[in-house]
Amino acid sequence: MRDSINLRSDTVTQPTEAMRRAVATAEVGDDYYRDDPTVRALEEKAAELFGREAALFVFSATMANLVSVLSHTRRGQSVILEASAHIFNNEAGFLAAFGGLTPRTVKGTRGRLTPDQVEGAVFPKDVLHPQTSLLCLENTHNAAGGTLLTLAQTEALAARAHGLGLKVHLDGARIFNASVALGVPVAELTAPADSVTVCLTKGLGCPVGALALGSRDFVGEARRWRQVAGGGMRQGGVVAAAGIVALDTMVDRLAEDHANARRLAVLLAEAGLLLDPPPEEVESNILFAEIPAALMEAGLFVERLRGEGVVVNPPRNRRIRLVTHLGVTAEDIEAAGAAVRRVLGKG
Ligand SMILES: Cc1ncc(COP(=O)(O)O)c(C=O)c1O
Repeated sequence: MRDSINLRSDTVTQPTEAMRRAVATAEVGDDYYRDDPTVRALEEKAAELFGREAALFVFSATMANLVSVLSHTRRGQSVILEASAHIFNNEAGFLAAFGGLTPRTVKGTRGRLTPDQVEGAVFPKDVLHPQTSLLCLENTHNAAGGTLLTLAQTEALAARAHGLGLKVHLDGARIFNASVALGVPVAELTAPADSVTVCLTKGLGCPVGALALGSRDFVGEARRWRQVAGGGMRQGGVVAAAGIVALDTMVDRLAEDHANARRLAVLLAEAGLLLDPPPEEVESNILFAEIPAALMEAGLFVERLRGEGVVVNPPRNRRIRLVTHLGVTAEDIEAAGAAVRRVLGKG
């Protein structure tokens, strides 16, 4: 029997054979002494690819966001984020727990803020208010459905933020998806931000790891915060080796995931689910679908779908998120569409 079709997240992927070989043969040393040649090679490769002075290898995108935000801020300050930003909602409250920061959230359109919204969210500079010091952006935007921030939008947001004296951190956990979808190199697309998080474990298929990128001073500060968070590594090259394979070989194929997501959206819409964004506006590898109450109770739909070999996360308010990735083929997408039709009695 074939494995199930797992659409829960692009983090469910298995490392490729090439990654496993690289991990098995990685040359390593103690990274506390900067003696791990594989960690250094990954950091240098990433810094070059993103046109930055330096990069820091960390365990996860959450940790990359954490060390980046803490490097740009001081306790008591305020950070502007889109209301459904991953940093605000899904990173266990580190802004408050570790940073002593006041999040100022603003609802965007499909995860996108405008420069005027950013300006409106800056607290007055006086003794009463927390001082706003950072704008966090997210590209692609997970909770909005893998939506894109174009280069022009990123430039406009960063220009306004910088004009207001703020730093800009870009949560680019899926920045390679954005780059492939927009046809803009990552160095250009992320240049307006002061720092960038890049995740290796999502579309790129690594088992562990992410990077925080920026100036040499920023990365020096982020390295100290990584230590505070208990994130220093010894022979980290064992996992960094897979990251090198990912940057070298796993980026271009993301276009397949995007095509698969769009096709899946069409199949789900044809079966009667409500897509938001609609199929023609699915921009990368994430989509959200609502199961209308008239069709089936959403929990039952998910359970029956699992019985058909298609796995998704439990619904929230009748909505499910589906994510394509390297473990899902175009044939799997057709099979998933057929399974949905069967579950809904339309097969
Ligand atoms: C936009 C975004 N940023 C950061 C993260 C954090 O990644 P991790 O959970 O691997 O630390 C995620 C995870 O899904 C994400 O979607």
